[in-house]
Amino acid sequence: MTKGALFVCLGNICRSPIAEAVFLHIIKERGVSEEWKVDSAGLGGWHSGNMPDPRARATLANHDIQYSNTARQIEPEDYLEYDYIFGMDNNNISGLKRDLPPNSKAKIFLLGDFDPQGEKIIRDPYYDTGSEGFEKCYQQCLRSCTAFLDSLAKEV
Ligand code: 4NP
Repeated sequence: MTKGALFVCLGNICRSPIAEAVFLHIIKERGVSEEWKVDSAGLGGWHSGNMPDPRARATLANHDIQYSNTARQIEPEDYLEYDYIFGMDNNNISGLKRDLPPNSKAKIFLLGDFDPQGEKIIRDPYYDTGSEGFEKCYQQCLRSCTAFLDSLAKEV
């Protein structure tokens, strides 16, 4: 059965697209893409329809990771369609839990809960002047997505 993973941040142009792209890349490498429905969304809709921030795109390109999705705002149906919803920081988690419908079976996690290095919060790099925060976000997403998928593999 297909599993669903939704990556959520505030604007859906910096952190969650990086997380989504990394997750898609890893499941492709592992040959399990068919098992997953994957997307990302923002708690806010200010950037709906936009490509990710140029620094996010450059960071992914530096790591040879393709990404072509555009931003969208999270919708009530998302809480029913996805098994795992990952926030990047505690504000994201508060927003997700606030809007969680009672009939949702989605499990809500900080993506960083899975980081083997224990860095739970993926800080918002949007207001940074440079792109170092985006590379750090990429590394955190890579570690956490890898460990999350490893944890599921151990369950079976
Ligand atoms: P993100 O970063 O949540 O990682 O996509 C942000 C992007 C835009 C804004 C805030 C955070 N904004 O306020 O427009």
